[in-house]
Amino acid sequence: MNQRAFQQKILTWYATHKRDLSWRQTTDPYRILISEIMLQQTQVDRVISKYLLFLETFPTVHDLARASRGDVLALWSGLGYNRRAIHLQDAAQHIVKDYEGIFPKNRDALLTLPGVGPYTANAILSFAFNLSYPCIDTNIRRILIHELHLSEAISMKELYKIAEKLIPKGRSRDWHNALMDYGSAVLTTKKTGIKPLTTQSKFLHSRRWYRGQIMKLLVQKKKINLDYLILALKKEKFFLEEILQEMEKERLIIYANNLAQLP
Ligand code: ADE
Repeated sequence: MNQRAFQQKILTWYATHKRDLSWRQTTDPYRILISEIMLQQTQVDRVISKYLLFLETFPTVHDLARASRGDVLALWSGLGYNRRAIHLQDAAQHIVKDYEGIFPKNRDALLTLPGVGPYTANAILSFAFNLSYPCIDTNIRRILIHELHLSEAISMKELYKIAEKLIPKGRSRDWHNALMDYGSAVLTTKKTGIKPLTTQSKFLHSRRWYRGQIMKLLVQKKKINLDYLILALKKEKFFLEEILQEMEKERLIIYANNLAQLP
């Protein structure tokens, strides 16, 4: 299928099948950033309510920048990967301090924000500013490989080059939304047999689970000591101590004298 026909097929399908997702009702880069960070490791269904609550609580980049760490983490709890919340607030503070609260329309500047890599920078440029920067998430990678008959071994660098040329002029926002919807509704993993690149190891899953439980307990109880944690989570001291120290280093918690609390 030639490029033009492929674009037509996707955009025509999208015209009648688009999902009405909350973050598509805005072009505010702050809101786009929040949605993209939440969507990185969490399913759309689970993100929607958190996204709305988060923006009700912190409606602007200024509100997020001046919020307390503990409040941000408490709100984030349940989404997992809590480091994302820390990065998000650091990014908000950066935008307020260095850009007077206005997101730059510039890829290199966006890439200096904590937690913002090539995917997220391009997503902000595309979804907020409708600029022609290719976004390749798992869904879009799968569609491109399937529709263009590419090898699954293709490097991301090659894929980005191809994706960039495919963006219909002036329609970057619609194009990427359309590809994401087409990927999740039509060209599924099951249908194509094309596997996602990232699969988390069992080891990491287990650590994530304990980290999530600790955050949940801290939101409920404010302060907990190590002995309590050993009993509550039925896990050995050495393992939990190591996790608490790791979380302290990532500024997710304050941990001293066997006592943990939110920052
Ligand atoms: N996943 C990441 N970004 C998304 C978006 N804008 N719409 C739907 N799913 C997404």
